[in-house]
Amino acid sequence: MKKLCLAAAVGCALLSPLTVAQTDSDKIVVAHRGASGYLPEHTLPAKAMAYAMKPDFIEQDVVMTKDDQLVVLHDHYLDRVTNVAQLFPDRARDDGRYYAIDFTLAEIKQLSVTEGFNIKDGKQVQGFPERYPMWKSDFKVPTFQQEIEMIQGLNKTLGYDIGLYPEIKAPWFHRHEGKDISKAVLKVLKEYGYTEKDSNVYLQTFDFNELKRIHDELMPAMDMDLKLVQLMAYTDWNETMVYDAKGKAQPYDYDWMFEKGGMKTLGKYADGIGPWKPMVVSDASTKGNIKLTGLVKAAHAESMAVHPYTFRKDEGRIPAYAENFEDMLDIFYNTANVDGVFTDFPDIAVEFISEHE
Ligand code: G3P
Ligand code: CA
Repeated sequence: MKKLCLAAAVGCALLSPLTVAQTDSDKIVVAHRGASGYLPEHTLPAKAMAYAMKPDFIEQDVVMTKDDQLVVLHDHYLDRVTNVAQLFPDRARDDGRYYAIDFTLAEIKQLSVTEGFNIKDGKQVQGFPERYPMWKSDFKVPTFQQEIEMIQGLNKTLGYDIGLYPEIKAPWFHRHEGKDISKAVLKVLKEYGYTEKDSNVYLQTFDFNELKRIHDELMPAMDMDLKLVQLMAYTDWNETMVYDAKGKAQPYDYDWMFEKGGMKTLGKYADGIGPWKPMVVSDASTKGNIKLTGLVKAAHAESMAVHPYTFRKDEGRIPAYAENFEDMLDIFYNTANVDGVFTDFPDIAVEFISEHE
């Protein structure tokens, strides 16, 4: 991790825990949705806690409101992490979901945020039962600007240089609804001083068409040149859709990214890729017989960084080929040679990097 050493002259070991210098590894840690293993995802407290764990980057998933404001939410729906169904029962669409884009910022600010849940037999069931309890304390949906200001403020008070890792969520959906979310995200990043390749930000999206548009049209028009990351999915996840001539949404075909030449094409637009873990280490691996897919080598050959998602230590989330969470980190950082990981538990990954420096 590349960080500021505030007092190199006096020796880093003499510094207090909050000002201790970071290790000098090139491997990075991205706090996925903040310290989301400990506090409700994407809330400012989860981001402040993540900050204190000293990752290299803190992630923001960004969606747009009815009145064109940017808020930090993983889904473009509000119903998995808020009480929207209780406060605005008549505002669901036909599919039963409550879309952030149908609500003003003032309305979204009325909502309480909780640890994520699913509805089963009419009841709320916590997604990760061992995590922070549902509906305890008081959390809100932050705007993108509020979060940037907090991270920049902490960079000032604590002296680190922790970066942003925003994801433009479902740009295909926003644009279909008449909203240019990518332009809005770039505008805010520019306002806060993120304009250059070496600005401390990676901008990510699952939507390759939009990544290309950002690279070829939006950034040049705005005099910006940020690092871009292409997130990778499988076609049948329906993560990215494209509208056909009849206006029907069809899944975007990701197959080409996994074929010969896929990384070469991506390398023309992206500085990095964000694959799902099994795209890097095959699930056919066993303890002592780790099978790499070759994706890291192919991406590195095109000078792209590789930051797979998502590293979780919850029950059932450690692949059978790993002994435990740390072993999983070791396999990815050292055997697979990835450049960074997205994790809900940034403290453990930061400690792992420090100890294996
Ligand atoms: O953006 C990297 C990772 O966060 C992708 O997964 O669904 O948590 O946004 P998701
Ligand atoms: Ca994300």
